[in-house]
Amino acid sequence: MNVYDAIAKRKTVRAFKPDPVSSDLIKKVLNAAIRAPSSSNVQPWDLVVVAGEKRQQLSEMLVEFSREKKKFSTDEPNKQPFKSIPPAYTERMGKHRQFMTAEMEKYKVNLSDQEMMEGSYRFYGAPAAILFFIDKGLNTRYLLDVGAASMALHLACQEEGLATCSIGMLLNYELDVKEFLQVPPEKRLIVGIGVGYPDYDNPVSKADTYREELDTVCSWIGLD
Ligand SMILES: Cc1cc2nc3c(=O)[nH]c(=O)nc-3n(C[C@H](O)[C@H](O)[C@H](O)COP(=O)(O)O)c2cc1C
Repeated sequence: MNVYDAIAKRKTVRAFKPDPVSSDLIKKVLNAAIRAPSSSNVQPWDLVVVAGEKRQQLSEMLVEFSREKKKFSTDEPNKQPFKSIPPAYTERMGKHRQFMTAEMEKYKVNLSDQEMMEGSYRFYGAPAAILFFIDKGLNTRYLLDVGAASMALHLACQEEGLATCSIGMLLNYELDVKEFLQVPPEKRLIVGIGVGYPDYDNPVSKADTYREELDTVCSWIGLD
């Protein structure tokens, strides 16, 4: 697949078939992910693959927490994620929400906020999840490395006929997730990515997202 095609076709999928993904295939896409560039080639990503029964148990724990409205167990520095968010980003979140609502209406999908949250905690049924951690001692520069690795993972999955959904909501219960997976406290959870075979028959998978125009997010200096 041409790289531009893979980038254009990749989208967040929120409905997966229950078919498991073989460990060989997960290794293959992960080997692509860890080819990502990193600052001083530190390769700071600490990855945890969780699948099968254990993935189910993790999800059930998180869903139960959200139903009983358990206080979030966010870890530093995510306790106040939107402390100083610029208004332009809040606007985009609003636009995204509006756009998604219209898409959901178009495809006759009715997902409440609670269902969206539970869907996220269940990785929307993806049989495997890959969690990205980095050491808390590393500064923000290294977050970029994890972002690069996760994009490589998304694209490798695309090539293999797999789909992905990044789940930032896991951070709501970061301390519990780390305890469940026996990840040491000095590690920081960045994201979890559900991986599985997409269920494109489910209308939720048809929803699209918008992007700002390039000129909104890019200024040019020395080139027309
Ligand atoms: C770091 C990160 C965290 C995300 N967390 C969630 C999540 O918790 N639940 C969810 O349904 N989607 C989540 N998403 C998916 C985004 O909503 C999605 O990427 C965005 O709307 C753009 O859509 P696209 O990926 O289809 O292009 C997350 C994406 C990223 C990159």
